[in-house]
Order: sequence, then C-alpha cells, then structure tokens
Amino acid sequence: MVIKPKVRGFVCVTAHPAGCAAHIQEQIDYVKSKGLLKNGPKKVLVIGASTGFGLSSRITATFGCQADTLGIFFERPSEEGRPATPGWYNTIAFTNAARAAGRYAKNINGDAFSDDIKKQAIEAIKADLGQVDLVVYSLASPRRTHPKTGVVHKSCLKPVGQTYTNKTVDTDKGVVSEITIEPANEAEIADTTAVMGGEDWEMWIDALLEANVLAPGATTVSYSYIGPEVTWAIYKNGTIGLAKNDLERAAKSLDAKLKAHGYGRAFISVNKALVTQASSAIPVVPLYISILYKLMKARGTHEGCIQQIQRLFATEMYNGSALNFDDARRVRIDDLEMRPDVQEEVKKIWPQITTENLPSLTDIAGYRTEFLKMFGFGLPGIDYEADIEPHVPMV
Ligand code: NAD
Ligand code: NA
Repeated sequence: MVIKPKVRGFVCVTAHPAGCAAHIQEQIDYVKSKGLLKNGPKKVLVIGASTGFGLSSRITATFGCQADTLGIFFERPSEEGRPATPGWYNTIAFTNAARAAGRYAKNINGDAFSDDIKKQAIEAIKADLGQVDLVVYSLASPRRTHPKTGVVHKSCLKPVGQTYTNKTVDTDKGVVSEITIEPANEAEIADTTAVMGGEDWEMWIDALLEANVLAPGATTVSYSYIGPEVTWAIYKNGTIGLAKNDLERAAKSLDAKLKAHGYGRAFISVNKALVTQASSAIPVVPLYISILYKLMKARGTHEGCIQQIQRLFATEMYNGSALNFDDARRVRIDDLEMRPDVQEEVKKIWPQITTENLPSLTDIAGYRTEFLKMFGFGLPGIDYEADIEPHVPMV
C-alpha cells in the first residue's frame, strides 16, 4: 500500500516503515559520528525502548558503547491493512542494524507494568546476558493496570488546586486559542502518580535485584521534565509534576539500595522539551515547544532526543567522574533550554502569539516536521508514492 500521514488532532494514525528505518539510521549515524565511549555500559535493559528518549538511550548504548540490549515496549503490529505503530517499525530497524553490527538485541512487546513482562525480561537476561549494568526506565503511558490490585489507573494532565487558563495551539490546524482546565481531584492526582510515579520503577529494580540479574555497581536512570513558568500549572505543579516528584522519591530510595549493591546508583535526568508522542498530548506545551525550537535553533543550541541522550552518556554518566547534580539531586541536560536568555525571550514572545503571527514568531513548521518524522514521514530519500508492505514481523 501507499502510506500517507493521517493526522487526527495530536496523533498520526499511520506510520511509514521505510521512513521510520531512515529516522533510526539518522540517529545511529549521529551517535557513531560522536565516537565510542570508553567507560560505557555493556549490557543494558531499556524499559520504554521503542520511541522518544528510551529509543535514543538504546541507540546510544548500542552504537556509542557497543552494548547488548534488551528492549521492552508496548506497540501494535500492522493489522487489517493498517500500518503498525512507529515504535514497531523503529524497533525492527534498530534491531536489524544492531545485529548487523554484531550486537545482541532482543525485544519484548507487552505491558511493562505487569508481573509477567518483568518475569519474561528476567528470564531473557538470565539466558542471554547474565546480568545488566544499566537499566533505563523511560515509560510514558496514559494508563497502568496495577499488578497487585488489578485496578486500572488512568493518568491525566490537569492543574492542581486551581483552574488554569492559558494559550494553546492546535498544531495540526495552526490555530491558537485559550484553554481552561479545571483542577484535578484527589483521585485523579493519585491515579496519575500510580501511572507516571516511581512505584513501577521500584518494582522493576526490586525484581531484578531479587533475581540477581543486576550487576553490582549497576546504574538506573529515569527521565523527568521541569520547564518554564508558563507551563508550571499544567506540568511541574500539575498532576504529572506530582507524579514526577514521586519518581524523584523513588530515585532516592533506589539509589540507597543500589549503593549497597556494589556501589551502584539511581538518578533522574531532567531532559529538554521535545516533540514526542507523549509531549504532543499535553495542552499548552506544544506551543511552548514551537517557540523554544525557534529560539534554540537561532542560537545553535537545539537538540533532539538523540543529541540529548548521547550528551547525557558522554558528559555525565560515562565520562569517568561523578554525576553533576542540582540541589535536588537531579542531572540537568535541560540546561540549554533553561538558559536565562532563552527563557526571557520566551516570556516576551508568549503574550504576543496569535493564530496570525504563529508562523513568524514560532517554529510551528519545525514542530510539524519533527512530529511527522516521528511517524516516518518527510525523511529524505524515501519514495512516499511507492507501494510498501505495512506488515513487517517483529524480530
Ligand atoms: P514516548 O511516548 O516517546 O515513549 C514511551 C515509551 O514507553 C514507548 O517505548 C512505549 O512503547 C513505552 N510504553 C508505554 N506504555 C507501555 C507499557 N504499558 N508497557 C511497555 N512499554 C510501554 O515518550 P517520551 O517523551 O520519550 O517519554 C519518556 C520519558 O521521558 C517520560 O518519563 C517523560 O516524562 C520523559 N520526558 C519527556 C520529555 C519530552 O519533552 N518529551 C522531556 C523530559 C522528560
Ligand atoms: Na521512551
């Protein structure tokens, strides 16, 4: 079939297998261009490995550190003539490239929150790797079925304590409007923390320790976001921000456990705002990202997921010295985003944005390009008029 983008609000319901493969190759080429890291991890488990920051972590580990990887993700294959999700195609392209380079790469598609997938992962590590020395926890999910209670928790993106009104953009239509979001109730706050907080990360590390498949001295990292004041009501101080506070709590608790296990470590890296499937669903944030991209590109400081994670590995995790923490024990690779000159400009531009000046005051075009690229569209060298087989079996 000929596969074209079909954008519905903040999702694209199609994905292009060859385009996704080209996107993977771009990331591999970038990591290779930065050279091999001498002190890198050798056996890596990535939970949330098929898109966004988790995928970039897997690519950096494989092609920047010559690591063997086990990837966990939740993706849908092609069915009834519908293309698969991009993470499905990404994983196949990544795995083929990794194996061609002589690296081990194994995949488990299923619910990472479940006991069963944790068990499968442990069995695979025991059988093939022995132990892992890095665990990247990079899930972004709208819901979690709790493995002990069976309760389905749904996360929400709402302010806490008060109603929030601000500008937002329909990135597909290019229309700027005002959005008002009512505050979350206690149950919604608790549910969001159950999904995006630290409990499942702790369950993973506990299970790995218990099964003796975590190497002494191993590292585990998870990702968070802080961002500018204009988004605090919906992000940092909203339901997702409270869940991230719980992730920070888990990082401290896990760090103590891993310190006692061969002097390992657990920490949070605060990453830059980027177009991913997770971030495009958040109100207000895509408008901020469109402004940010323009300012950072003009300064030559713009980075994508792969540049962010390669820098995290090269300058923080595996540069042979200790991690640089902020006052809350977090690594900050959002440093270039948070530079005062950038944030002051954001503050100046924000009140001026209208539907009419959106194309000139922001990089909405760059936002859309990045968004479509996540689904394998707009890659150079791909013939998008050509017939392509959407059904590709997992490898
Ligand atoms: P993403 O949507 O690109 O990736 C999510 C991953 O989780 C995918 O691999 C998906 O398959 C997997 N997943 C989701 N539910 C699953 C389940 N039940 N079982 C197994 N796998 C599942 O998201 P992302 O933006 O890369 O987010 C990853 C982390 O980075 C999140 O913690 C997010 O908060 C954080 N972060 C994102 C940004 C941003 O701007 N996008 C910035 C800073 C931090
Ligand atoms: Na991810």
